[in-house]
Amino acid sequence: MEAQPHRPKLAVKTSCVAAPEKQQVCTGVRRNENFGKLQAGYLFPEIARRRRAHQEKHPDARVISLGIGDTTEPIPRFIADAMQRAAAGLGTLEGYSGYGAEQGRGEVREALCERFYAHVGRKASEIFVSDGSKCDIGRLQMMFGAGVSVAVQDPSYPVYVDSSVIMGMTGGYQEGRGFGGIQYMPCRPESDFFPDLRKVGRTDLIFFCSPNNPTGAAATRAQLTELVAHARERGSILIYDAAYALYISDPDCPRTIFEIPGAEECAIETCSFSKYAGFTGVRLGWTVVPEALRYADGQPVIADFNRIMTTVFNGASVVAQAGGLACLQEEGFKEMTELVAFYKENAEILRRAFTELGFSVYGGTNAPYVWVGFPGQASWDVFATILERCNLVTTPGSGFGPAGEGFVRASAFGHRDDILEAVERLKREFRGAK
Ligand SMILES: Cc1ncc(COP(=O)(O)O)c(C=O)c1O
Repeated sequence: MEAQPHRPKLAVKTSCVAAPEKQQVCTGVRRNENFGKLQAGYLFPEIARRRRAHQEKHPDARVISLGIGDTTEPIPRFIADAMQRAAAGLGTLEGYSGYGAEQGRGEVREALCERFYAHVGRKASEIFVSDGSKCDIGRLQMMFGAGVSVAVQDPSYPVYVDSSVIMGMTGGYQEGRGFGGIQYMPCRPESDFFPDLRKVGRTDLIFFCSPNNPTGAAATRAQLTELVAHARERGSILIYDAAYALYISDPDCPRTIFEIPGAEECAIETCSFSKYAGFTGVRLGWTVVPEALRYADGQPVIADFNRIMTTVFNGASVVAQAGGLACLQEEGFKEMTELVAFYKENAEILRRAFTELGFSVYGGTNAPYVWVGFPGQASWDVFATILERCNLVTTPGSGFGPAGEGFVRASAFGHRDDILEAVERLKREFRGAK
């Protein structure tokens, strides 16, 4: 007799349905209650929803996005060719390879170390190549577990907070105050977008991003020295997000936290090719965990990160790593820095336009983001006005944390023509408005 397929027991309920008129089948699995704490969805899907609604209302409008921080320019030739060769090689007996090392190819780790970290004493064995920084942030959260406390810059990249919420490190959300249990470190123009660390209580983890998404502020050497001292005094671990480090041109702003003496005993750094080489779709990043970084009981953190990577990750794609290696070779590195320079010019065009219009403008010089202040106004209202009047999508600052209220972020990751057109529309609608 043939084996009967296994059929899980399903319950037909009406109580679990979104649309009450339709019966839905529910399992007996309880939802992770932390998802219920998250706000009306991740910021960017909400922006996309509003953009769609606007487009439906104005079908002929050509909407330009200065919103989501995705790249738009093609991957440079030398780098794309390297990936093409790797992909073609996979179709041959000689070029085929299967699983690689979970920590990344040796050459890629060596090349990353040589380019970005050897001068600050880091070793290739401390670098873990991955499918991107966002994924590494999730894996770091998994590694530290739900029992740790967290501080974040306010405003900041929403992934630090949302992943903490999902992990169960927080309480509920309060309008204008954020999630209970998270230490928000306000970063406002009056303090040069650096938190007043004297007012920050001790937490186990401190997420810090420089150049910051969304404010575009790059921390200076003096500020990072203060941050490292703060973490060391309190026995905290910094999770330093350097995803935009290559956008820094100010020599007083370090491109890695490991330029600060003592950081190797209190910091993990994560970085990515996403915004350097247009790898947002290719997926390649890395995380540096120094051997000297220890838990309270003296155990090395790197051993656990290695365990996480070997348990829930199976190594970055062969094709992506070939691209990453090309990015680090002379010709690829040149192409990559030219691409970064192109987006920086976009940022400068946006920065100049908002400044000419009389707005308070921040960022955009060491970062691909321009942070524009609209004091006394709600970010979502400003977002709606700019969308309605200019057919431009921006990102409301309040989506990045309570201290982002009153600001919108404009991203420089657009085609040049679109950036120029966006600037024309802004000038047409807002000239003389201030
Ligand atoms: C600050 C910051 N960190 C990390 C990421 C994600 O990088 P990746 O594409 O490598 O996952 C982003 C992407 O927008 C970001 O803004």
